[in-house]
Amino acid sequence: MIIVLNFGSQFAHLIARRIRELGVQAEILPFDTSASEIKKLNPRGIILSGGPASVLEKGSPRPDKNIFDLEIPILGICYGHQVIAQMLGGKVLKGKHREFGKEILNIKNKTGVFKGLSKKEIVWFSHGDQVVKLPENFFTIASTTGCECASYGNSRKDIYAIQFHPEVTHTQKGMEIISNFVFSICGASQNWKIDSLSRHLGKELKEQIGKDHIVLGISGGVDSLVAGTLLHKAVGKQLHAVFIDTGLLRKDEVKNVASLLKERKFSLSVINASKIFLSKLKGVTDPEQKRKIIGHTFIEIFEKTIKDTLKKYPIKYFAQGTIYPDRIESAEASKHASKIKSHHNLTLPDKFGFKIVEPLRDLYKDEVRKLGEVLGLPKSMVWRHPFPGPGLAVRIVGEITPDRLHILREADAIYIDELKKAKEYEKIWQAFAVLLPLKTVGVMGDARTYEYMISLRAVDSVDGMSADWHKIPPELLERISSSIVGKVRGINRVLFDITQKPPATIEYE
Ligand code: XMP
Repeated sequence: MIIVLNFGSQFAHLIARRIRELGVQAEILPFDTSASEIKKLNPRGIILSGGPASVLEKGSPRPDKNIFDLEIPILGICYGHQVIAQMLGGKVLKGKHREFGKEILNIKNKTGVFKGLSKKEIVWFSHGDQVVKLPENFFTIASTTGCECASYGNSRKDIYAIQFHPEVTHTQKGMEIISNFVFSICGASQNWKIDSLSRHLGKELKEQIGKDHIVLGISGGVDSLVAGTLLHKAVGKQLHAVFIDTGLLRKDEVKNVASLLKERKFSLSVINASKIFLSKLKGVTDPEQKRKIIGHTFIEIFEKTIKDTLKKYPIKYFAQGTIYPDRIESAEASKHASKIKSHHNLTLPDKFGFKIVEPLRDLYKDEVRKLGEVLGLPKSMVWRHPFPGPGLAVRIVGEITPDRLHILREADAIYIDELKKAKEYEKIWQAFAVLLPLKTVGVMGDARTYEYMISLRAVDSVDGMSADWHKIPPELLERISSSIVGKVRGINRVLFDITQKPPATIEYE
């Protein structure tokens, strides 16, 4: 296992992810984890991540200095690079310029982390401070024009440091650098597969929950389904899944998800609350207000279910299917990210005193999907596109009415079905229909129509943070359009959205 000590960088998770991609277990721990605790875990290597602080600021984070005497290889990245220099007797100063973006790295010594690379490589920097004097017996390994000491090390002690970020894709040979550290320097072996992750998470959950009971809100999305399956495997009937039908879900969603969970013998409560949600949303047109109402109503109903239906169980924990990118989007994981939309993650009031369990909190979507497959969930469930917490409410622009919901559900089902039939669905990251409550004139048979429009959205993305519109073949678009206009009453025009994110967002509200 390789340990990543997190100094507050959102890239810490990306480092761990890259190591897992190499087939090696990676664990993220707080920067101040003691050397003795680290030793107990018996890691092959330690990586000190980047972070937003400056080593020159008073009180900025430091690792336990005893980690340098553990005789475990260490790699410092960015802030980690500076902190090692400073703690071992070197010197760090504020640089004349901030270095931000791609730079050419001149490698003086193609060994250690740079084994097999060229003399010049493109790497990605983001730093203000610079190492200006090295600790005794450490040598500069690489430089750029603006940063004399872009990498240094001591091969006897197996301590290396790099000022740039190997974990981001802009550093072209980043994976080779990480791989050199993990395999050549640390001697780690490639025995980490997604089924080891499943076993590891399962074991952790079992230990954490013990004989207590835990409640989980199922949304029908991949994340809560995988979190639920993992928990169910670990603690069986001590898990109580609650599936609230908000009336804002896709066609047949409740039926399909509930039957899957019942088949798997989940303790499941399906609560039909669509009337309550729709009455509270009546007349509401503002997107953020919709989200707030849905969030609050969800909590109210969830609380009521715990009080009424689940009162006989001693519930101590509350599970969520939060994954790593959710934490970035809601600005929790990174101090730099600003909040764009208030994502609908359920937070129960303190009076319940439940402890939160988020088994997928450090994983990316593709890892969650692979985990779902290992846990035996059907491919159609695991590889379905993401669906937002507030559901169809953010896919009907303006007021939500039962009529509009019905129209959208039917149009969306036709769209998705046609994409699946044409084998286009798997090529797309997320596709859905949106109802635009704007009426235009059409003609059907010999009669004039005056109906709403449907906009079709299909995007390619890695994690939903940015997205490009997916190029659906025109013949398929035509088939979808004819089918929707022909079969769904209330629609006489179909549009296809060709906007990227940014400037647009994926959802319409
Ligand atoms: P946007 O519209 O922000 O969407 O570009 C990015 C990704 O996030 C999903 N999304 C949400 N998910 N609650 C969620 O759980 C929300 O309020 C929410 N808003 C957007 C969206 O479907 C896309 O995958």
